[in-house]
Amino acid sequence: MTERFRSCDLDRILGRNTVISTSMTEYPNLFSPLQAGAFSLKHRVIMAPLTRMRSALPGDVPRALNVEYYRQRASEGGLIVSEATQISLQGKGYPGAPGIHTDAQVEGWQAVTEAVHAKGGQILLQLWHVGRNSHSSLHPDDGLPVAPSAIAPRIGKALTADFQQADYETPRALELTELPGIVEQYRAAAIRAQAAGFDGVEIHGANGYLLDQFLEDGTNHRTDAYGGPIENRARLLLQVMDAVIGVWGAERVGVRLSPYGHFGDMQDSDPVALFGYVLQQLSARSVAYAHLVEPRVGNAGADVPIDETAKRTARIFRDAFAGVLISAGGYAAEEAERTIAGGYADAVAFGRLFIANPDLPERFRSGAPLKWPDRASFYGGTEVGYTDYPSLETADR
Ligand SMILES: Cc1cc2nc3c(=O)[nH]c(=O)nc-3n(C[C@H](O)[C@H](O)[C@H](O)COP(=O)(O)O)c2cc1C
Repeated sequence: MTERFRSCDLDRILGRNTVISTSMTEYPNLFSPLQAGAFSLKHRVIMAPLTRMRSALPGDVPRALNVEYYRQRASEGGLIVSEATQISLQGKGYPGAPGIHTDAQVEGWQAVTEAVHAKGGQILLQLWHVGRNSHSSLHPDDGLPVAPSAIAPRIGKALTADFQQADYETPRALELTELPGIVEQYRAAAIRAQAAGFDGVEIHGANGYLLDQFLEDGTNHRTDAYGGPIENRARLLLQVMDAVIGVWGAERVGVRLSPYGHFGDMQDSDPVALFGYVLQQLSARSVAYAHLVEPRVGNAGADVPIDETAKRTARIFRDAFAGVLISAGGYAAEEAERTIAGGYADAVAFGRLFIANPDLPERFRSGAPLKWPDRASFYGGTEVGYTDYPSLETADR
C-alpha cells in the first residue's frame, strides 16, 4: 500500500511549492457549478482518463473489479472520463485495455455506468484508436499496427499481448480507401456507448495516438487529402467529430488534445497554427468541451518533477476555443483554483491524484490529506493499487 501522502511529497514529486489546504472555503471556483454542453457539473474536479489495463481477457470486457473502481470515484454532480477504450481490434494497443466494439463489452460497461449514475455522477467514454502505438501480437492475424505514414516511434516500447515490452514495429500506412472505415468504427463505437448507458463521449485526439498522428507533421507525411496542409491533417479528426456528433449531438461530445506533447515521440512544426485551427473548427461545432493536456508532466505518470519551462497550453489556446475548456496535467487543488479563477480554464481534470484518492473532490473540499499513487500498480494486475485505496469513509471504519 502506498505511504500516507503529505504536501511535502507533492512538492517533491511535482517539483513546486504546493500547500495542501485545510479549509473548505479555499476553492470557491473549483466547487462552483459548471454547464459543459449537456453535462451539468456540481463541481469542477474532473476525473481524467486513466488506462489501467484490468479488463477481462480474452475479450477486453469490463468486469466487476472495474465497476467497483469507477463506483468508488463517482460523486454527486461529478464528471468522469473513462479510461481510453478501443473502437476496434485494429485500434487496440495495450493488453487488458477495454473495448467498445462487441456486445459483451457493451454489457460490461453497462454495469459501470449504472454504478456511476447510482451515485449521481456522469461518465463519458473516451474513444480510442492507438494507431502506430501498438504491436502485431494484439491484432487479428498478427497484422501490423496502422498509422498515417510508415514511421515507427523512436522512443518508448510497445506492449505485446502477453504484457512484454517489445521494440515498436514500423506501422503500415493506411490506404486512402481505408479512412472512411475508420470514421465508421468511431460512429459504431459511439452508438455502442449509447447502448452502454454513457452520458456522452470524449474523442481521444491527444498523446500521440491515431488522430494525433494524423494532426502532427512529425508523424503525418502523407501527400493525399489527409496530409500536408493543416486543413488536410485535421480532416480525419474533424470527420470523426462530425460522425460522433451525428450520433450524440455536439453537446454530449468532448475532445482531448495535447499541443506540444511529446509522449509517443510526437512533434509538430507549428503547434500554434495547427491546434489554433483545430480549436476554431471545434468551436464552430459547439462541442461540449475541449480538454487540453499540459506538456509539463512526463510520460504516462512517470514520477518526474514538473517541467516548469514547458509551454502552458491552457494559456496559449484559451482564446482559440469558444466553449468550455478543461485543463489537465500536474495540478493539485491550489493551482486548479488559480487556473479557473484566472480564466485560463473552466475545469481541471486530475489523473494520478484520482488513482490514489477515490473521493478526491471530497478530500479537496474538506482539506483532508491526500495519498500519492504507487506507479508499480498503474498498468495491469489485481485490486492492489486499484480499488484498495481507501476513501475517507472506509478509512474511518
Ligand atoms: C496510469 C495513467 C494512465 C493514463 N491513461 C490515459 C488515457 O487512457 N487517456 C488519456 O487521454 N490520458 C491518459 N493518461 C494521462 C492522464 O489523463 C493525465 O493527463 C496525466 O496523468 C496528467 O495528469 P495528472 O498530473 O493529474 O496525473 C494516463 C495517465 C496515467 C498516469
